[in-house]
Amino acid sequence: MVSRRMSLVSASKTMELDAKAKEMIKRGEDVINLTAGEPDFPTPRPIVEAAKRFLENGHVKYTDPRGIQELREKIAQKLKERYKKDVSADHVVLTNGAKQALYNAFLALLDPGDEVVVFTPAWVSYIPQIVFVGGEVRIVETHFEEGFQPSLSTLKKSITERTKVVLVNSPNNPTGVVYRREFMRELVDLARERNFYVVSDEVYEPLVYTENFTSILEVSEDLDKIVYINGFSKSHSMTGWRVGYVVSSKEVISAVAKIQSHTTSCINTITQYACLEAFNVDTFEMLEEFRRRRDFVTEQLKRIGLAFVEPEGAFYVFVKVPGDDVVFCENLLEKEKVVLVPGSAFLTPGFVRLSFAVSMEKLAEGMRRIERFLERFVG
Ligand SMILES: Cc1ncc(COP(=O)(O)O)c(C=O)c1O
Repeated sequence: MVSRRMSLVSASKTMELDAKAKEMIKRGEDVINLTAGEPDFPTPRPIVEAAKRFLENGHVKYTDPRGIQELREKIAQKLKERYKKDVSADHVVLTNGAKQALYNAFLALLDPGDEVVVFTPAWVSYIPQIVFVGGEVRIVETHFEEGFQPSLSTLKKSITERTKVVLVNSPNNPTGVVYRREFMRELVDLARERNFYVVSDEVYEPLVYTENFTSILEVSEDLDKIVYINGFSKSHSMTGWRVGYVVSSKEVISAVAKIQSHTTSCINTITQYACLEAFNVDTFEMLEEFRRRRDFVTEQLKRIGLAFVEPEGAFYVFVKVPGDDVVFCENLLEKEKVVLVPGSAFLTPGFVRLSFAVSMEKLAEGMRRIERFLERFVG
């Protein structure tokens, strides 16, 4: 029998819909899948070429569990320049994607029963990860009417003696919303006052379309109560390469390094070396293409008359739909063969997540079908 802990986490509705859509595609049906959680661009050529080179050169042995010094230095240097913070290679550990960075951070920080505040809408893996390591989740809702912006006064009411972590995700998955500077600043102050950590998942930071983004690193004086999470998946279209990282105080970093050394030894060596090349690659074109698609989708949604909060980052729009969101998605798949993710998967019913990480053609066809579905079946 598997552990009791496993029964605390259930398989999500998203997976069922995804499986159904895949089955339809297999049968040759013309499905428009707007659920993508990864950029639809190839990994930039220089990174691929670098991987081949390092493989040929025999860079195939274990590395330091924290990752190779050169890459940790490059990451630290970038953050230091961008956010004017005293970050060095000793503050960085490489992980198998940001997903493992988050999991290791929770494992490093939480004792059983410690509480983690999670804002909803929330990305699907946060709660299972916290539950796996024995943490308790405290949900704090953000609301459509407030642009899905978190409120400090609401947060304060949820902070208890047991609060160990407040988790933030900006740009946000699923809303694309960017948390305001004022909130980030106040959050850092509150963390110091109430003695909790801020885990800030900024994996969509490379995909920001406005001036409003604020990193937790900008507003914090030091790394003392900060755990910064990022990676190369979204920034360089490298989801399958699995490179993420944790940046934090030396105390947290040495705990995360300990976890790495006993769980994976280190992340894939060739991948680490290939990532050095990412710092020479310009991803401006990818960002511009996402911006064009965002503008197109939001224009179409306005025309059709569906409500949403303007996404300022990432590649998602979180759209308000009539009726039950799961039923809406099931019917849309059945009648028009378009796949979206129900908001319930992010603990926010009444909405659906539409990804614009697909070609403009598919996006245009998807929008045509959604419009027709609304006219015919919703009224
Ligand atoms: C909000 C958020 N955080 C973290 C991740 C994990 O990304 P990866 O493990 O590929 O770096 C994702 C991936 O979809 C995400 O959407």
